[in-house]
Formats: sequence, C-alpha cells, structure tokens
Amino acid sequence: MKSIGVGVIGTGFMGKAHSIAYSSSASVFGTSLRPKLEIVCDLSPSRAKNRATDLGFARYTDKWQEVVNDPKVDLISVCTPNNTHAEISLSALKIGKHVWCEKPMSSSLNDSVEMVNASKISRSKTIIGYNYTKNPIVLHAKKIIEEGKLGNLAGFFCRYDVDNEADQEKSWSWRMSKKLSGTGANGDILSHVISVAHFLIDSKISKVVGDINIVHKLRQDPKEDNKLKPVDNDDMVSALVHFDNGVKGHIGASRVSWGKKCGLTWEIHGTEGTIMYNQERLNEIKLYTKSDDSSCNGFRTILSGPEHPFYSSFLPNGGHGLGFMDVKICELQGLLLAIENNTDTWPNFEDGLAIERVMDSIDASSVNRQWIDIKH
Ligand SMILES: NC(=O)c1ccc[n+]([C@@H]2O[C@H](COP(=O)([O-])OP(=O)(O)OC[C@H]3O[C@@H](n4cnc5c(N)ncnc54)[C@H](O)[C@@H]3O)[C@@H](O)[C@H]2O)c1
Repeated sequence: MKSIGVGVIGTGFMGKAHSIAYSSSASVFGTSLRPKLEIVCDLSPSRAKNRATDLGFARYTDKWQEVVNDPKVDLISVCTPNNTHAEISLSALKIGKHVWCEKPMSSSLNDSVEMVNASKISRSKTIIGYNYTKNPIVLHAKKIIEEGKLGNLAGFFCRYDVDNEADQEKSWSWRMSKKLSGTGANGDILSHVISVAHFLIDSKISKVVGDINIVHKLRQDPKEDNKLKPVDNDDMVSALVHFDNGVKGHIGASRVSWGKKCGLTWEIHGTEGTIMYNQERLNEIKLYTKSDDSSCNGFRTILSGPEHPFYSSFLPNGGHGLGFMDVKICELQGLLLAIENNTDTWPNFEDGLAIERVMDSIDASSVNRQWIDIKH
C-alpha cells in the first residue's frame, strides 16, 4: 500500500466533492494507492482554515502556488472558477504533478491548447471532471452499445437543462461573464453533454450549427445596490451535430429553465433499438430492442446493481442506488488506477480539448450563422 499526497484548490461545490472522493476512496475501493489530504486552498485564510477543518486537510493556505509547490503533494485538484484552470494546471504540470481539473477545461480555446501541449511533455496524468460518464449504469449503457444491441447507431439526442439561474432576481456571478467563465450554459453544462456524446458514441462531433440566447441580459451587481451588470454569455444554447462516424443528432442546454434541477437527458437511436437516460433518475436506463416479442414489447427499465462495474464496491444489492458523490468517487478511482499502473485516463486534457473545440465552434456558429467543420 502506498499513499499519494493531494492538494485541493477551491472549496466550493466541487472542492468539497473532490475532498469527499479522496476521503472515501480507500474505504469504498480498498485502493492500494491511498490519497492523503495534505493541503487545501481558498481565497481567504479564514475560509481556507474552516474548510481544512471540515474537509479533513492537514494544512491550509490562501495561495494556490503553495499547494502546487508543496513537496508532499503529487496530485492537484483544480476546483476554482474556469478562468484560473489553465494557470494552475500549467504550473502543476511543469513540476510533474498529476492534475484533476474541473470542467470546462479553461475559459478559452488558446488556454486549453496550451494545457494539452504542457500535458504532452509531462509524464503526469490529467483528467477533466466529466463525471456523468463515470456512472456505473452509464458504463453499462456503453457496453450495451458496444455489444451491438442497438444495431448501427443513427441518432444522438441530448439536453442538459437546469434552473440554477432561472430567477431573474438572482445576482450576477462569475458564471455570467465571458472573461471569467468563457461561454455560459455552453461551457457550464453543454460541455457535459458533449463529453457524454464522445464517450457513448465513441466518435467525435465534427460538424455543428449552433444558436444561443441570453434570456436575462442584466443582473443585479452583487457588490453595489441598485446597479445592474450585463450578462455577456449564453443562458441557452442549441446545436445540430454530425459525428465523424456518421451519427447525427441535436444537443442543447439551458441554465434558466424552471423546474429542471439536473435535467441531463439523452437518447441514442440505433437500427435495432433505443436507449434512454435521465440524470434525475441516475440509477436507471431504459432500453427497447426490436428483437423482443412485439406483442409484449416496450421499454424496459434496467436498475443499477452489482452486475455493473464499480457498483458492487459501494453496495451488495441492486436497487439501493448510487448518488452524485459516489460517481465522483468512481471518477477518482479511474485516475488513481491510471497513476498506479501508468495507464490512460479518459477524458485527459487532449480529450478535453476535443470537447472545447465543439463548444467553441457552436459559439462561433451562433454568430456567423453557418455550419462549421471541426478539425480535431
Ligand atoms: N463536474 C461537475 O459536475 C461540476 C459541477 C459544478 C461545478 N463544476 C466546475 O467546478 C469549478 C468550480 O465550481 P464550483 O461550483 O465548485 O464553484 P464555487 O463557486 O462553489 O467554488 C469555487 C471556489 O473557488 C474559490 N476560489 C476562487 N478563486 C480562487 C483562487 N484563485 N484560489 C483559490 N480559491 C479560489 C472560491 O472562493 C470558491 O470557494 C468550475 O470550473 C465549475 O465549472 C463542475
């Protein structure tokens, strides 16, 4: 058994999720490479100190450079706003640290290209936090597709809608700024859709035509009463897409759709069957195959259970169900195994860049109103 020192930068939703994964991985998987929570960072010493206590870290700092340069740290979690991902990741890769970076990869295509270049000259492992591809029932869906149960794939249809920003009274935040976040719903949630697309179709999106909508154009400035700030990135985004392998479909995302809590839904249509998933019911898939007796045929619900990779590490019986944090623990497990056995991760920075290129092309297409061919 060996340990690996970890440092987490940013302690909001994702910093907490990464920290829970680090704390839990040995108890769930009995891993031989065991994360050791060394140091955590946030913007103020008091916040960092409180979060170190809550999350179980030995030390804290308000300077991310101290995490990256800490000699006891070999694996860095980048859980800060998007415009900081590149600088932190580049400096970590430069000195040979492994990087678990949250999605989207960065706030600009140029930064993402630089991250890939740095990862290619480093021997460190990289992974981007596209966790919806790590759910055991989604891995099972991929197996069903690979076994040919759907026949030849023809259509991919996926949306990710949430109501996080639906309330127009909600104040402006970094997510609504092109400078701090990059694109809006596109980078924040459509990026997940594209990760699912590339993972399940096993081919990249290579042609798009897109459209965006900024629904709430002005928001209350959080720092000044009665002052409004402009929102300059998309609240809603849609695209028609073609994959390299001939599959066609449409994808979309919205951060302003009331009632949609975690509305990631996808359907894959093949010549022999159809498979469907809804993240709000993350322990099930629905499958229809034409070979069934047509008089009794219909979509059947397959519940996640110990037959599906990784599930049995959590629970011995089906039907109990996993949750979001469990899936994050699965994601970490893939990274730890890759570090230990020097195998590949998915999606590494190069795979992440392919996702960024699709996002970027959809954004560009919404301006020039034309189909765009994507060169991966
Ligand atoms: N994989 C997923 O499902 C998922 C879900 C939510 C967010 N994310 C991504 O995770 C990242 C963080 O999002 P979040 O929801 O956790 O945001 P958040 O606002 O909840 O947390 C961000 C944290 O980073 C801290 N921070 C900001 N700048 C910093 C800096 N320079 N140094 C140190 N700390 C700094 C903030 O104080 C805050 O604690 C984003 O890139 C986001 O897109 C991924």
